[in-house]
Amino acid sequence: MLSPKGGQGKSTFAKELAWLLNAVLVDLDWDGGRVSRLLGHQTRRYVHAPLLDVLFDDQGRPPRLHRSRKRPDMVPGHKDFEPNQPEPDTMADLLVQWSQTWNRPVLADTHPGGSRSTLGAAQAADLVVMPVILGTGELDAVEDALDELAGFNLLLVPNRVPANPAHLPGHESRRLLALAQTHGVRVADTFVRHHGWMTRRKIRTVIAAQATHGANTAALTLDMIHLATEVISHAA
Ligand SMILES: Nc1ncnc2c1ncn2[C@@H]1O[C@H](COP(=O)(O)OP(=O)(O)OP(=O)(O)O)[C@@H](O)[C@H]1O
Ligand SMILES: [Mg+2]
Repeated sequence: MLSPKGGQGKSTFAKELAWLLNAVLVDLDWDGGRVSRLLGHQTRRYVHAPLLDVLFDDQGRPPRLHRSRKRPDMVPGHKDFEPNQPEPDTMADLLVQWSQTWNRPVLADTHPGGSRSTLGAAQAADLVVMPVILGTGELDAVEDALDELAGFNLLLVPNRVPANPAHLPGHESRRLLALAQTHGVRVADTFVRHHGWMTRRKIRTVIAAQATHGANTAALTLDMIHLATEVISHAA
């Protein structure tokens, strides 16, 4: 999960997709809004910091997984990861090794913009998913990023789009399609709708993991199932 600009929906997609794909969620963000924190994991409550510990482990063991109900198995992020990030090649090797050792797919969430660990995650990925909000500044950021990222297997996923397709912003939609065409990257068939209640949700679990659904959570879950299906087909 990667985006040149913050707040595009990486962490939202990451937690839902990791659950739906039974992938291990590796949180490579260090900011307060990192996905593991969104899922209720607070580093100060723990003595161990699996992501940091493993960088200094000379036996090459993968990090210990944090497991809890209605959340994907995960490697929580840490606020001190930024200065400790490995070089891109090392990060990529680690992610591939961990995935092989766990015999599970890995879904990495990243800090917005470019950083060593983000580049490493992109290098290791079968598919790089980039949520995109259809706005002027957001598309400017995508345009600049595509110059550097076009070599990766990218999937651009419009996020927070109006539920009524007739209300899609025409100019921005066309601009995204043109950018994708110029750079030879895919735009997802799944357009994730704007679910206005989501920013106020207080429960720190995966929405798709709920045992029962109301209309709101059912709609979001449906979008995520479509996206998960598309991710599997493009990552294969
Ligand atoms: N489809 C959507 N509908 C409504 N709100 C959404 C949607 N997707 C994401 N959001 C909201 O937008 C905000 C940013 O989303 P999220 O944290 O997933 O983005 P991010 O790319 O991980 O941000 P950051 O770069 O800061 O880590 C959150 O409040 C989230 O609930
Ligand atoms: Mg995030």
